[in-house]
Amino acid sequence: MLQPVSETALTDIIGASPTHAPVYNTPPGFDLANNSAFKTGQPFDYYKTLRETAPASWTPVQEASGYWAITRYDDIKRIELDPETFSSQRGGINMAYGPPGKRHVRLHGAALNTLICLDRPFHVPLRMQHRSFFTPDYVAELRKKVEVKVDQLLDTMERKGPVVDLVTNFSEQLPLFTLCEMLGVDEKDRPKIIRWMFYLESAGHMFAEKAAGRRISPLFIAKFLWNVRAMFRFGEQILQDRRKNPRNDLLTAIATAKVDGELLSQDFLDGAWLLIIFAGNDTTRNSLSGTMKLLTEFPDQKQKLLDNPSLIPGMVPEAIRMVSPVIHMRRTLLKDAEIAGQKIAEGEKVIMYYGAANRDPSVFSDPDRFDIGRENSGNHLAFGAGPHVCLGQRIATMQLEVAYTKILERFPNIQWTGHIRQSPNNFVNAISELEVNLGT
Ligand code: HEM
Repeated sequence: MLQPVSETALTDIIGASPTHAPVYNTPPGFDLANNSAFKTGQPFDYYKTLRETAPASWTPVQEASGYWAITRYDDIKRIELDPETFSSQRGGINMAYGPPGKRHVRLHGAALNTLICLDRPFHVPLRMQHRSFFTPDYVAELRKKVEVKVDQLLDTMERKGPVVDLVTNFSEQLPLFTLCEMLGVDEKDRPKIIRWMFYLESAGHMFAEKAAGRRISPLFIAKFLWNVRAMFRFGEQILQDRRKNPRNDLLTAIATAKVDGELLSQDFLDGAWLLIIFAGNDTTRNSLSGTMKLLTEFPDQKQKLLDNPSLIPGMVPEAIRMVSPVIHMRRTLLKDAEIAGQKIAEGEKVIMYYGAANRDPSVFSDPDRFDIGRENSGNHLAFGAGPHVCLGQRIATMQLEVAYTKILERFPNIQWTGHIRQSPNNFVNAISELEVNLGT
């Protein structure tokens, strides 16, 4: 029987030291556990130092379990492909769930009671029930709607231009539209989801600041709590509605999914709702913005695309490799193992840094170079690998292809102005503003 993961998981043991002494000294220079440190983007230079000098590096975390930071491509792929040793269910996939008593109970439950935090035997049957909304045929149909939406967004941007924020005008609008089309969320309800995303992205930072004894504005906390409540209430109502009035949409697939012949409990409906709006929105949003930044930083590559737009589909996996929108996923060991010569004990955590794997020079030559002709860019691990590999990768890829085909056709001189803001978040690379000049 499927029990709530939140009741059975070994989430965080505060202050625990590793069972086996670290083989490598953790190099100074960056605190991977600190959300604020990610305000200037991912620490690609520090990842390089880790890969070279401490590929399994012990990292203590305030008020959560310490963990082994894993940064080499082969080690991360091995972890992804071995769920019998490296469990998603035993301790969840996020760096920290916070100590008991200091958690937001419903958010904590929903973050764990979800497909992405299940192992065998429950994971595969549940995943299969989402599948019809991720097939090539479904994506091809959706693409037609995405093309129309991209044109509309670019029209609006042109009217407001030439200098506009790409995030509010485009990158956050397109994934929201696509996801809501798949889910079947009515148009009037869609703007709320953007607001909820903002508060969800702030959650990790807010809890860490609180744990460190720093003051958070009471108004912000009140707004956060109000929005989280509204998000769950909306999800609960819409999923219950789909049980009574099924439609041909992803929400109905979630609402009517069964494990062991039973419909999902409210705990798992909360989790499915949180996962899908978070996984589908934020990641694609940041790849759309991150690609614009890359095209400005590597003008020779942009020129190749302008000269030959048929290269755009090949550019997309390379952009996703470079951006690596999901910063990490965590696993908990079900048995003792050894990674990069480091013995790691059962019950301990490993964290896979996808951005580090995707710039490992043993797999990607000259890895910091954005090279749209790179032959093996599709081997990146930004979507994970193995049983939990991203269900939405075709949806994300399609959106990037359509977006950049139309953006470059319409605004060949578009440039990032150099202004960027990133949210303090060490789970997803969260670009909250990216100013562009359309060059019109
Ligand atoms: C560039 C965009 C995206 C990136 C980089 C990304 C990345 C990821 C990663 C790293 C995982 C976890 C893999 C693992 O644990 O091994 C994942 C899982 C998942 N993603 Fe994505 N994702 C993206 C877009 C999307 C979209 C658009 C959707 C939905 C419309 C989506 C839905 C999911 C779901 C449902 C899972 C859980 C799959 C499972 O546990 O079986 N993702 N994604």
